[in-house]
Amino acid sequence: MYLTRFFSGLAQAGLFAVAVGWKYQSDESLLVMVILVSQAASNLWLTIPSLSDRDAASVQLCRGALSTSCCTGLTLLILGTLSSSLLFLIGGAWIFVAACAGLMISFWPPTKDDEEEEEVIFQPVNDDDSQEASDNDHFLSWDQHEKDDEEGGYRLLEMDDDDDDDSAHEDEAPTNNESHPSNRIRGTTRLLQLAAPEVFYLYAGCIALLIRLPFSLSIPHFVSTTLSALGHADFHKAQHEILLLFIFGSIDAALDFWCIFLFGYANQRIVRGVRLDLFAKIIRQEVAFFDTHSSGELSSRLSSDCSEMAGDLTWFFRFSVESFVRIVGIVTYLMIRSPTLGACTLCIIPFVAIINKVYGDWLRQNATKVQEALAGANAVAQEAIANIRTVIAFAAEQKEWDRYSHRIDRQFQLNVRQLFMTGVYYMSISTFLINTVVQASLLWIGSLLISQHKLTPEVLLAFMLYQSQLQNETLNLFQSYSSLIKSSGAGDKVFELLDRAPPPPSVNALSVRADESRETDHDEQLENSIQETQKYHVELLGINFCYPSRPNQPVLQNLHLEIPHGKSMALVGCSGCGKTTIINLLQRFYDPTGGSIRIDGMDLKAMDLLQHRRHIGVVTQDPVLFSGTLRDNITYGVRRRVSFEEVQRVARLAHADGFIDRFPDRYETTVGERGVQLSGGQKQRIAIARAILLNPSLLLLDEATSALDAASEQAVQEALEEWWINNRSMTTVIVAHRLRTVQHADCIAFLQDGFVREQGTHDELMKRPNGLYRHMVERAGSNGILPDM
Ligand SMILES: Nc1ncnc2c1ncn2[C@@H]1O[C@H](COP(=O)(O)OP(=O)(O)OP(=O)(O)O)[C@@H](O)[C@H]1O
Ligand SMILES: [Mg+2]
Repeated sequence: MYLTRFFSGLAQAGLFAVAVGWKYQSDESLLVMVILVSQAASNLWLTIPSLSDRDAASVQLCRGALSTSCCTGLTLLILGTLSSSLLFLIGGAWIFVAACAGLMISFWPPTKDDEEEEEVIFQPVNDDDSQEASDNDHFLSWDQHEKDDEEGGYRLLEMDDDDDDDSAHEDEAPTNNESHPSNRIRGTTRLLQLAAPEVFYLYAGCIALLIRLPFSLSIPHFVSTTLSALGHADFHKAQHEILLLFIFGSIDAALDFWCIFLFGYANQRIVRGVRLDLFAKIIRQEVAFFDTHSSGELSSRLSSDCSEMAGDLTWFFRFSVESFVRIVGIVTYLMIRSPTLGACTLCIIPFVAIINKVYGDWLRQNATKVQEALAGANAVAQEAIANIRTVIAFAAEQKEWDRYSHRIDRQFQLNVRQLFMTGVYYMSISTFLINTVVQASLLWIGSLLISQHKLTPEVLLAFMLYQSQLQNETLNLFQSYSSLIKSSGAGDKVFELLDRAPPPPSVNALSVRADESRETDHDEQLENSIQETQKYHVELLGINFCYPSRPNQPVLQNLHLEIPHGKSMALVGCSGCGKTTIINLLQRFYDPTGGSIRIDGMDLKAMDLLQHRRHIGVVTQDPVLFSGTLRDNITYGVRRRVSFEEVQRVARLAHADGFIDRFPDRYETTVGERGVQLSGGQKQRIAIARAILLNPSLLLLDEATSALDAASEQAVQEALEEWWINNRSMTTVIVAHRLRTVQHADCIAFLQDGFVREQGTHDELMKRPNGLYRHMVERAGSNGILPDM
């Protein structure tokens, strides 16, 4: 801010120097009146921000003042050029460059440390007295997230609510046939539409370009006139021309920043917007989608494809506008100075256009393949890194390296092809056609014209200087087209994902943050309604199910189960009989292919998916923890005010307090990515504490205590039983391989081959002479582990 004011001061000094200079030079009083009035206004603007410090309003005001100074500088420059007044030219350039530099600095983003944000989200709490405050911070963090998300200010993705429209779901096959011209145009149009919300920055960039144009175009002119003046031994004129070149070049340089910054800024906003939309789209897909799409592939779409597709987009706007205007300017200049030589220079353009079209089409097809190959390689790398312990344990480093190298080789080959074609392109267009053929032809024709006294050497020199600019601009223009085509190639996969309408049961459209207003309203409604306790009388009626990725392999067949509200049901059976599948269906990760699941008489499909999931607490065999602290993980998913005492209480219930207290940072101990810094049993206890804290209406325990030793398991079991006794409103489904865990359940279901073979209490089932359950219990080991039948 101080620097901005410093440059503003410099601009002011320039103005007063001009004013004083004018006083002794001429009587263009009207001009000075205009300048002084505009400067007075700018001064006024500058005094206001000094009242307050560094806030957004003062920055805006300073920018306003500096913009006014820029305009003043430009006005002086124009008037200086028209009236050939060197004083006005120098003064104008001074004001313009100083104001531009100040304006530039005002756009330097304030340093916002990401770590600081993280700290707000995971506020450490060691002191009980500060608990209330830290709890507030914890809740502030949710708001913080929402505010951060709002900063985008635009959304490209329209969140459609009609996810239940089945007709829209049959889009699994890629919709883009790259070779089809209409699809290509559609892809390119979609890509251009991405830039629509950024028109302000793009227009501003175009304006900067247009203002800059005469200044940058005039440089070769001054070079030729200087050399011509030197040729005629007119040193005074040469000095004058050099000074003009310096002034115009300085203005050109100051404006160059804006062309780069504004287009680049628009570019960053587009990439950010596409990433946010794509991430929102990915996380609201149905679970089956993730069975067939690897996380590596999806993260590659988010990282590489998004930046690739938007990366060249804004350069398209920049170069298409800049090159077009420059070409028009240069062609006009050349035609005025020598029509014959001008026509010779232009005849190369059609050849460049044709070669560029062919190159652009090829580039697009190759870009799609490159992105696909990169996504494949990323998927392999991510899988290997995520499972590095298994890779090391099996000494499979070489195998994983081979897999990765095979995929990356494919991408390498495609990139080498691209390099080869780029080399051919530059060789034929830039070096041969432009540098060699055109230059030689121009010099040859030019020397002929000079020998016939139809041209002066000065004009030929100007032509040589301008023609290289012209050819560069022509290349830029066509390349901006090829870049756009290439970007749309990289964007194909991104658009495919963005367009994918997830079939039910996908996450409700309102649950993602792509539309802040709806999210906030819905959240409030949800938080209000979530307080109501829901009765979970669960019925599975004639359930048939096969996983979408294996449609011909039935997992559950005509399955009937009933779990009355507040009761517990244990599912036992051999490995692969479908126990976890039932847990998945109850969470509505998948919909059954036949039959229906009813909750308190209501079909699960008709229920609000978010409401339903927020009533559920789940603990799985290998619970997933998130990087962050133990406290963050225990409170994960809880959307109400949680006190530290409550966190401690649930940790005690889950028998997690013992090991937590042994860590020096206690509840603020970080657990590492996916909780790698904890043992399996510790992770399970944190997951149990997390489930208890949610106070769910339906508790799903899928081998929840399998990683605990016998003593810990018994302790956790007793704690859970005690909790159930106090929470008779909770319905529980338990999957376990330990007799002790299942025998106290209100009902036990024995599953085999996707059917329920036996059902009843432990005592009832044990009374059956040839019962499968009884047979299994009798074969249980001394540790009470039920065998796999
Ligand atoms: N995402 C999936 N896609 C396709 N098939 C699956 C998927 N998950 C599980 N299966 C298959 O469904 C069947 C039932 O699996 P499920 O996980 O329900 O068994 P389980 O009874 O929980 O076994 P375990 O006791 O070993 O955990 C298995 O044959 C399994 O191969
Ligand atoms: Mg299982």
